[in-house]
Amino acid sequence: MIKKLLFGLPLLPLVFLLFFISPLSSQTPIEEEEREYEFLEVNQKCLKCHGHTYYYYYNDWVERDIKARMNPYHIVDSADFYVSNHWNFRCVDCHSEDYAEFPHAGELRMEPIYECIDCHGGDEHYAQYNFEAIDEEFHKSVHSSKHSEEFTCWMCHDPHTYRVNARTNDNMEEFIRYDNEICLSCHANVNRYQLLTTVDNPNILDMHGWLPNQGLHFKSVRCIECHTDISDDLMVAHNVLPKEKAVKKCVDCHSKNSRLLTSLYKMQFTDQRSLVGFSNSAMLEEGYIIGANRNYYLNRLSLVLFGLVLLFISFHVILRLTIKHS
Ligand code: HEC
Ligand code: HEC
Ligand code: HEC
Ligand code: HEC
Ligand code: HEC
Ligand code: HEC
Ligand code: HEC
Repeated sequence: MIKKLLFGLPLLPLVFLLFFISPLSSQTPIEEEEREYEFLEVNQKCLKCHGHTYYYYYNDWVERDIKARMNPYHIVDSADFYVSNHWNFRCVDCHSEDYAEFPHAGELRMEPIYECIDCHGGDEHYAQYNFEAIDEEFHKSVHSSKHSEEFTCWMCHDPHTYRVNARTNDNMEEFIRYDNEICLSCHANVNRYQLLTTVDNPNILDMHGWLPNQGLHFKSVRCIECHTDISDDLMVAHNVLPKEKAVKKCVDCHSKNSRLLTSLYKMQFTDQRSLVGFSNSAMLEEGYIIGANRNYYLNRLSLVLFGLVLLFISFHVILRLTIKHS
C-alpha cells in the first residue's frame, strides 16, 4: 500500500502546478440598479407604430383603419431601447414634439439632431467618460476627417440601442463581439458603408488574410486594438488611424508588454487581480496569449530541472570515471 502511494509521489508537484494554472473563478456580474421607467406610457404612443413591422392608422379620406408596413430602418426595438444608456428618455426629448401628429409633417425630416457633446460636454457627472477628449480624438480619426459633418457619433452609437459595454460587462467575449459589430455594421454592410462613400467596400476577411486563425483573433481582440491610437486618458480609444498605421506586428500583442494591456485589458488592470507568478495574469482569465503570459515559477522550474539534469550527468560521469579507475 505504502509502495503504491510512493509511486504517486512524483505527481505531487503536478497537482501543485495545476493549482497555480487553474483560472480564477469568474466574477459575479455587476448588478443593474433598480430602474423606474417614467415614460413607458408616452413612448408607447410612438412605439405602437415604430416598435412593430406593421402599423395602423385611421384614414380620414376613405374613413377606415389602414394597416401598412413600417420601413425596417424606422423600427425601434423597445426591448433594446429600455436597456440602452438613454432608457429614461422620452422619444420627443431628442425628436420634435410635432411627431405626435400623423402623418408626420414633411419638414420634420429636416430637424437638426443633437450631438453627444451638446448634452454631455462639461458635465462633471460624466467626467469618467471624458467626452471632450473622445470628441477631440474622433475628429482626428479617418472617419471624421474624410467625411466631416456626415460622419457623426451616432453612426457608431445607435441612438436607440447603444449601451456602455467594455466598462461594465464582465463577459469579455460578449463585449468584444458588441464592439466589433459596431465596426462591422458598415464594414460588412455595403448599403450602410455606401451611405458615406462611393468607393467599393473592401472585403474584411480578404484584407486580414495575413492574420493566422482569423476567426479566433476576431473573437479575442477588437478591431480598435489594431486600428486606433491608444490613449491613456480614455477607456476606449477613438482615433481610428489610416490603414497604413494599423498594427501588423505579432509581437505588439504577443509579448510581455503587449499593447493589449493598455487597451482591451485596461479594465482588468485597473482592478489588479493577480495570479501567482504569471506575467499579465489577468489576461489568462480569457485565454493564453503566446508570449504575453510567461510564468515566472515555470520559467524558474525549467531552469532548476535543467540544472538537475546537468548535475545528474556530471555525477554519473564522475561515478563512471572513479569506478573504471578503481
Ligand atoms: C401612426 C403611426 C406612427 C406614429 C404614432 C408615430 N410615427 Fe413616426 N413614422 C411613422 C411612419 C409610417 C414613418 C415613415 C415616414 C413617414 O411616413 O413620415 C415615420 C417616420 C418617423 C421618423 C423619421 C422621419 C424621417 O424621415 O427621417 C421619426 C424620427 C419618427 N417617425 C418619430 C416618431 C415619434 C418621436 C413618434 C411619437 C411622438 C412617432 N414617430 C409616432 C409612423 C408613426
Ligand atoms: C438620445 C436621443 C434619442 C432618443 C431618446 C430617441 N431618438 Fe430616435 N433618433 C435619434 C437620432 C440622433 C436619430 C438620427 C440617427 C441618424 O441619422 O443616424 C434618430 C432617428 C430616429 C428615426 C429615423 C430612423 C433612423 O434610424 O434614422 C426614428 C423612426 C426614430 N428615431 C424614432 C424614435 C422613437 C420612436 C424613439 C422613442 C422610443 C426615439 N427615436 C428616441 C435620437 C434619439
Ligand atoms: C439630449 C441629451 C443627450 C444626448 C444628445 C446624448 N446623451 Fe447620453 N445621456 C444623457 C442623459 C441625461 C443621460 C443620463 C441617463 C441616466 O442617468 O438615466 C445620458 C447617459 C449616457 C451614458 C451613460 C452614463 C452613465 O454613467 O450611466 C452614456 C455612456 C452616454 N449617455 C453616451 C452618449 C453618447 C455616446 C451620445 C451621442 C452618440 C449621447 N450620450 C447623446 C443625455 C444625452
Ligand atoms: C467608429 C466608431 C465610433 C465612433 C464614430 C464613435 N465611437 Fe464612441 N465608442 C465606440 C466603441 C466601439 C466603443 C466601445 C463601446 C463599449 O464597449 O462600451 C465606444 C465607447 C464610447 C464611450 C464609452 C467609453 C467608456 O469610457 O466606457 C463614450 C462615452 C463614447 N464612445 C462617446 C463617443 C462620442 C462623444 C463620439 C463622437 C465624438 C463617439 N463616441 C464616436 C465607437 C465609436
Ligand atoms: C491584428 C490587427 C487587426 C485587427 C484585429 C483588425 N485589423 Fe483591420 N487591418 C489591420 C492591418 C494591418 C490592415 C492593413 C492591411 C494591409 O494594408 O495589408 C488592416 C486593414 C483594414 C481596413 C482597410 C481596408 C482597405 O484596404 O481600405 C479596414 C476597413 C479594416 N482593417 C477594418 C477592420 C475591422 C472592421 C476589424 C474588426 C472586425 C479589423 N479591421 C480588425 C489590422 C487589424
Ligand atoms: C457608419 C459606417 C462606418 C462605421 C460604423 C465604421 N466605419 Fe470605418 N470606414 C467607413 C467608411 C465609409 C470608410 C472609407 C473612408 C474613405 O476612404 O472614404 C472607412 C474607413 C475605415 C478604415 C480605412 C482607412 C483608410 O486608411 O483607408 C479603417 C481602418 C476603418 N474604417 C476602421 C473602422 C473601425 C475600427 C471601426 C469601428 C470602431 C469602423 N471603421 C466603423 C465607414 C464606417
Ligand atoms: C491585437 C493583438 C494581436 C496581434 C497583433 C496578433 N495576435 Fe495572435 N492572438 C492574440 C490573442 C488575444 C490571442 C489569444 C486567443 C485566445 O486564446 O483566446 C492570439 C492567439 C494567437 C495564436 C494561437 C491560436 C490558437 O490556435 O490557439 C497564434 C498562433 C497567433 N495568435 C499568432 C499570431 C501571429 C502569427 C500574429 C502576427 C501575424 C498575431 N498572432 C498577431 C492577439 C494578437
